[in-house]
Amino acid sequence: PVHRIAVIPGDGIGKEVMPEALRVLQAVQQRFSVQLDLTPIAWASCDHFAAHGDMMPPDWKAQLQDQHALLFGAVGWPATVPDNVSLWGSLLKFRREFDQYINLRPVRLFEGVPCPLAGRKPGDIDYFIVRENTEGEYTKLGGIMFEGTEREVVIQESVFSRHGSDRVLKYAFELANSRPRKHLTVATKSNGIAISMPWWDGRADAMHAHYPAVAVDKQHIDILSARFVLQPGRFDVVVASNLFGDILSDLGPATTGTIGLAPSANLNPERTFPSLFEPVHGSAPDIYGQNIANPVAMIWSAALMLQFLGEQAAHDAILRAIEATLTGPRSEVTRDLGGSASTTVMGQAIAARVAAG
Ligand code: NAI
Ligand code: MG
Repeated sequence: PVHRIAVIPGDGIGKEVMPEALRVLQAVQQRFSVQLDLTPIAWASCDHFAAHGDMMPPDWKAQLQDQHALLFGAVGWPATVPDNVSLWGSLLKFRREFDQYINLRPVRLFEGVPCPLAGRKPGDIDYFIVRENTEGEYTKLGGIMFEGTEREVVIQESVFSRHGSDRVLKYAFELANSRPRKHLTVATKSNGIAISMPWWDGRADAMHAHYPAVAVDKQHIDILSARFVLQPGRFDVVVASNLFGDILSDLGPATTGTIGLAPSANLNPERTFPSLFEPVHGSAPDIYGQNIANPVAMIWSAALMLQFLGEQAAHDAILRAIEATLTGPRSEVTRDLGGSASTTVMGQAIAARVAAG
C-alpha cells in the first residue's frame, strides 16, 4: 500500500531535524518496498501565524483527515507567539480532534549514550509509557469563587470516563501482552485522590480479567517516580492518566541521556483519524539556526510511524542504523552526545546505514 503522510516541520529545530527524517525515509524507500506519498505542510507554525494571524488555515482538518499519518517536528516560537497560543492552536487540536488518545513513549538506554543514572547499562532501561492523551486532569472544567476576597476558592475538575479509561487500559494490556515480560505497571494515587483513582484502579482490575497472562503492579505515582530513577529495571509497560503520564514521560527519557533522542507517538489506534509522530523535545530556540540539534528523536519518531503503518522491517532497519551510529565515531554524533557532528552529518550517517542494511 501507499502510505499518505503529511510532513509538518513546525518551528525552530523542527525545521532542521525534519529534513534528516526525510533523508532516512528516502533511504527506506530505496531499500524496502515501502511507498510513501509525502505532503509538505508549512502551516501549524509560528511563521504561518505571523503571516495570517492564525496557526492553521480554517480547513486544516479537511486537508489532513485523509492522511494516514502526520509526521510533526515541533511547534513554538515564544519570542513572537505565546506558547499557549501556538500549542493549543496546532498540536493540541490534532491530538483532540483526531482522537489520538494514546500517547506512547518508548524509554530506552542506548549503547554509546552516557546514562545520568550511575551504574546503568543498556538493557537496564527499556520500557514504554502509555499516557492517556484526551481527558483526565487536563480539562477546562472548574472555576473561581469569591474571587478577590479572603475566601477565594478555586476548583479544577478531572474527568475520567469509562470509555476513555478502558480504551487506554486496553491498549496498555495489549502492549504488555505482546512483550516477553508481560508486565504492566498501573500508575495510581488512590490513597490521596480518593474518588477518581480508586475508580481507575477498579477499571484496571476489570481489564486485567481479559489479560490473565499479564502481571500487574499498581504503584502510587510518588514511589513510581522514585523507582524510575532507582530501579528502572522494574518497568516493562507503564500506563498512566494524562497528568501522571505527562510527568513520567519527561522523567523517563531524562534517565536515558539527552532529550534529543526521545520519540513519541500520538495514536488513534482505530485508524479513524491520522496518528501523529513527533519528537518529545520542542523547537529549541536557543540552538536553532546552528545545525547542531540531534536528529535522532525525529528519525526514531519516523520509525515508530512506519511500524504503526505496518512496515516493521523498515522500522527495525532504522533502529539498527541509529544504534550503530550512536556507538560509531564521535564525528558522526551531535554535541549533546559528546560528538562534533552537525544535524546534517548525523542524519546522513544514519541514512547511509539504513541504505547499506
Ligand atoms: P525544548 O525541548 O525546545 O528545549 C529544551 C532544551 O533541550 C534546550 O536547551 C534545547 O536546546 C535542548 N534540546 C531540545 N531538543 C534538542 C535536540 N534535538 N538536540 C539537542 N538539544 C536539544 O523545550 P523548551 O525550551 O521548554 O521549549 C521551546 C519551545 O518549544 C516552546 O515554544 C515550547 O512551547 C515548545 N515545545 C513544543 C513541543 C512540541 O511541539 N511537542 C514540546 C515542548 C516544547
Ligand atoms: Mg510534557
